[in-house]
Amino acid sequence: MGVYAVTGSASGMGRAVVDKLTAAGHTVVGVDLADADVVADLSTDDGRRRAVREVLSRTDGRLDGAVLAAGVGPVPGTERLPLIGAVNYLGVVELLEGWRTALAATGSAKVVVFGSNSTTTTPAVPRRAVRALLAGDVTRAARAVRLFGKNSPPMMYAGSKIAVTRWVRRHATTADWAGAGIRLNVLAPGAILTPLLEKQLATPAEAKVIRRFPVPVGGFGDAGRLGDWVVFMLSDAADFLCGSVVFVDGGSDAYFRPDAWPRSVPVSRILPYAWRFLRYRGNR
Ligand code: NAI
Repeated sequence: MGVYAVTGSASGMGRAVVDKLTAAGHTVVGVDLADADVVADLSTDDGRRRAVREVLSRTDGRLDGAVLAAGVGPVPGTERLPLIGAVNYLGVVELLEGWRTALAATGSAKVVVFGSNSTTTTPAVPRRAVRALLAGDVTRAARAVRLFGKNSPPMMYAGSKIAVTRWVRRHATTADWAGAGIRLNVLAPGAILTPLLEKQLATPAEAKVIRRFPVPVGGFGDAGRLGDWVVFMLSDAADFLCGSVVFVDGGSDAYFRPDAWPRSVPVSRILPYAWRFLRYRGNR
């Protein structure tokens, strides 16, 4: 049986994951603002350090996996833009950096980071905001989206999920992660009926936008079903899954961008390998 850290363990999809892992006999250390084994505010430096430290001490420095589900939705108000970036980006990346050695210690750890289909279905997210987040600068990222006024929270939310998804894809394939036996992957849900979405639906203007958004299979997703996807991505079935972004969104991403992906690799990136491949073919 494994030992797992789950952030956002008190509610929604994080909670569903905790219930499923514990029902299967695993040990889970939950991290959240309240009702958790480790109570920590991931929007602050102190809270993130505390989450790293306490999880390591409760697990003797060995983790079979981690699920990064804590997240803040596109809460209204430009003064809360940094909060979105801090929880959704730093609250993932700094924890994973702090837990990396513990994940490497078990030899075949799996990590599931919660992304979102807002990454590919929100138009015009400023690249500057994503770049600032990837550099760890939440304030600069907030400044880059502030000019969008009341539309800035969805921009910040999508920007934070793009940045965290890129961080996963950049690191997943490296010696420190793939080479250390750690599988880093992203689950990108669409609209799932959890307290986060319920808060958005409670605002009539937001509810109208959400309900009109195309979801080809119809309706909202279920937190328990998303929990099943996470458990699957933590299992041995994911040994060969590395840096993948799994969209479970009722078809919205495919609806808006049927031809955007897969896209062939730029020649400059493949050239060193292509030469070797061509030479190998020539020698046969
Ligand atoms: P939720 O609101 O039910 O759960 C999120 C949890 O994160 C809560 O328990 C909350 O207390 C915790 N959290 C928030 N701020 C925190 C902080 N500063 N420190 C520590 N914990 C904090 O939300 P849900 O829907 O289960 O979301 C899980 C993940 O899925 C989030 O990352 C969210 O962005 C993402 N997501 C959700 C979608 C949806 O439609 N529900 C769609 C796409 C992605």
